Amino acid sequence: MEVVAAVLAWSISAVCQNNAAAQWLSPLCTRNNSAALANRLSSGALIYSPGSDGFIQATSRWSAYETPGIDLVVVPSVEDDVAQTIKYANQNNIPYIAVSGGHGAIITESRMQNGIEIWMNQLNTVEIDEDIARIGGGALSKAVSHSLWDAGKQTVTGGCECTSLLGPGLGGGHGLLQGRHGLVSDQFISMNVVLASGEIKTIDKTSDLWWAMQGAGHNFGIVTSVSVKVYDVQYSDWAYEVFTFKSDKVEGLYDNLNVHLLNNGSPPLNIVNYGFFMNDPELDPKPIIYLWVIQEGATSVDSIYTKPFHDLGPATTDIGSGTYLDVPRWVGWDNDAAPCQHVGLANTRFPIDIQSYNVQSMRKAYDLFTDVTKKTPELNGSFFLFEGYPLQGVKAIPSESTAYAFREDNLLISPVVSWVPSGSDVAQKATDFGKRLRQILYEGTGKSELHSYVNYAFGDETPQNWYGYEQHRQQRLLRLKNKYDPDRKFSFYAPVA
Ligand SMILES: Cc1cc2nc3c(=O)[nH]c(=O)nc-3n(C[C@H](O)[C@H](O)[C@H](O)COP(=O)(O)OP(=O)(O)OC[C@H]3O[C@@H](n4cnc5c(N)ncnc54)[C@H](O)[C@@H]3O)c2cc1C
Ligand SMILES: *[C@@H]1O[C@H](CO)[C@@H](O)[C@H](O)[C@H]1NC(C)=O
Ligand SMILES: *[C@@H]1O[C@H](CO)[C@@H](O)[C@H](O)[C@H]1NC(C)=O
Repeated sequence: MEVVAAVLAWSISAVCQNNAAAQWLSPLCTRNNSAALANRLSSGALIYSPGSDGFIQATSRWSAYETPGIDLVVVPSVEDDVAQTIKYANQNNIPYIAVSGGHGAIITESRMQNGIEIWMNQLNTVEIDEDIARIGGGALSKAVSHSLWDAGKQTVTGGCECTSLLGPGLGGGHGLLQGRHGLVSDQFISMNVVLASGEIKTIDKTSDLWWAMQGAGHNFGIVTSVSVKVYDVQYSDWAYEVFTFKSDKVEGLYDNLNVHLLNNGSPPLNIVNYGFFMNDPELDPKPIIYLWVIQEGATSVDSIYTKPFHDLGPATTDIGSGTYLDVPRWVGWDNDAAPCQHVGLANTRFPIDIQSYNVQSMRKAYDLFTDVTKKTPELNGSFFLFEGYPLQGVKAIPSESTAYAFREDNLLISPVVSWVPSGSDVAQKATDFGKRLRQILYEGTGKSELHSYVNYAFGDETPQNWYGYEQHRQQRLLRLKNKYDPDRKFSFYAPVA
C-alpha cells in the first residue's frame, strides 16, 4: 500500500510539474501542503492556513506595499523544522521566505508568490554565557536587549524594539552602540544556517560563507541561531534633548549637524543624533523638523553638543534621562510607537548613505517634501529620516573583511513615503516622490556612486547600490551565490544576483 501510494504521489508530482498536463489534472495537483508538511515537522511546530488568526498575525507587516504572496505559514519550533520545510518546498517547487519581525519592506520580496512563509517567531531564545550570547533566529531586539540587560550585558542591536536581531544584522545593522562595537553583524561569532539544499550548517570565520553573512546574509540561507559578542554594561545612564524646528531653520540645522556633531566623520563616541521632518498641521502649516541628541553615560546631555541647537532658535525643546532600555521610548522606536505598528499602511523608503549634509540639498528636499505633501494629501503622512550614529567601531573594522560595503559613509538618510494603499495611481505618485527626494540628495553628494543601505532599500536599486561597486565584492557574492544557492531560492530580499 505504502509503496503504491509513494509511487502514485511521485508520479502525480512529476506530472503536476509539467504545466500543460497540470491544467487537466488540476484537482490532483492541488496538494494539501499543510497535511504533507505536518508529518515532517516536530510536535511544537505550527502551520497556519489563510484565514486563521495565526496566519493573519504571522503575515501582518510594517508595510503593506508589494508584499510576498503567502499561501501557508510554517512556525518552526526547532531548527530541523526549518530544514524539513525547505526540503519539502524544494521537492514541490514551492518558494519560501523567512520572516522574523515583519519589518522588511523591500519590494523585491513581492517576487515571491504562492509561497511558504517560515515565521521564526518560536526560535526566539537568548542564552548568555559570559561574553557570548546565543540568540534564536527570530528573536526581536527588545527581547535581546532586555535579557542581556538583566544579566548586566549589552550588544549592538537595531534601535527599534520590534525588528529582529538578524533582519537588520544580516545586512549590517545600525544601532546605538555601534560607535563602541561596530555593526550588528560585526558581533557575530558563529551561526547555524539552513542552506538552500536544506542542509544545516554551523559556520564561523573559517567558512567562505562567513564574509557574505555579514552584510548580504539574507541571500544565503535561514539563520536558526547566532552567537554574538556581548559586553558588560559600562554606562547605564542615558540622556536626551529633543528639539523641534520650523522651516526657516533648515540651513542652520544641517550646518550645525555637520560642524558640531559630525565633526568631519569623527563624531563623538557617546552621542547619537536622530531626526526627521514631517507634517503636523496643528503646530505649523509647513513640516516640522525633529532632532534628538542622545548621550550615553550621562544624566543630562552635555551643553557642548546642544548649545548650537539652542542658539538656532528651536520651536520647542524637551529633555529626559533614564537607562539604555528607555531610549526606544524617547525616540518612538518602542513596541507601542507608530513605527512598530502593522496597520496596513504602505511604507517605502528611498535611502542614501552620505558623508555629510549638503545644506542646499537638504533645503531642496525639504521644499519638495513640503510642496508634494501639500498638493498630494494622500502622501502627507510621509516623513524624512536622518540618522547620525557614532562611527568609530564601524570604521575600525577593515572594509574588505565583510560584505557590508559602506563603512566610509557617515549618515543614513531616507525619505519614508507612506500612504493608505488604494490603487496604482497613488503608488506611482509615492514612488516618484521618493525617487525625486533621493535624487536631490544624490546630486548633492557630487559622487557617481549611489549607496543605499540594503535594509532600507526600496527595491529598484542595483546590487552595486546595495553591496558596493567594487568588482571584487560583486564577483565574490556571485561566486558564493552560485556555490550555496545555485537555484536562487534566497533571492527575494535584495538579491545579489
Ligand atoms: C520601524 C523600523 C525601525 C528600524 N530600525 C532599524 C535600525 O535601528 N537599524 C537598522 O539597521 N535597521 C533598522 N530598520 C531596517 C531593518 O533592518 C529592516 O527593516 C529589516 O528587514 C527588519 O527585520 P525584521 O526581522 O523586522 O523583518 P522581516 O521582514 O521579518 O525580515 C526581513 C528579511 O530578512 C530575512 N530574514 C529575517 N530573519 C531571518 C533569519 N533568521 N535568517 C535569514 N534571513 C532572515 C528575510 O529575507 C526577510 O525577508 C528598521 C526598520 C523599521 C521599519
Ligand atoms: C489539509 O490538511 C489539514 C491537516 O490535516 C486539514 O486540517 C485541512 O482541512 C486539509 N485541507 C484540505 C483542503 O483538505
Ligand atoms: C493630510 O490631509 C488630510 C486631508 O486633506 C488632512 O485631513 C490631514 O490633517 C493631513 N494630515 C497631515 C499630517 O498633514
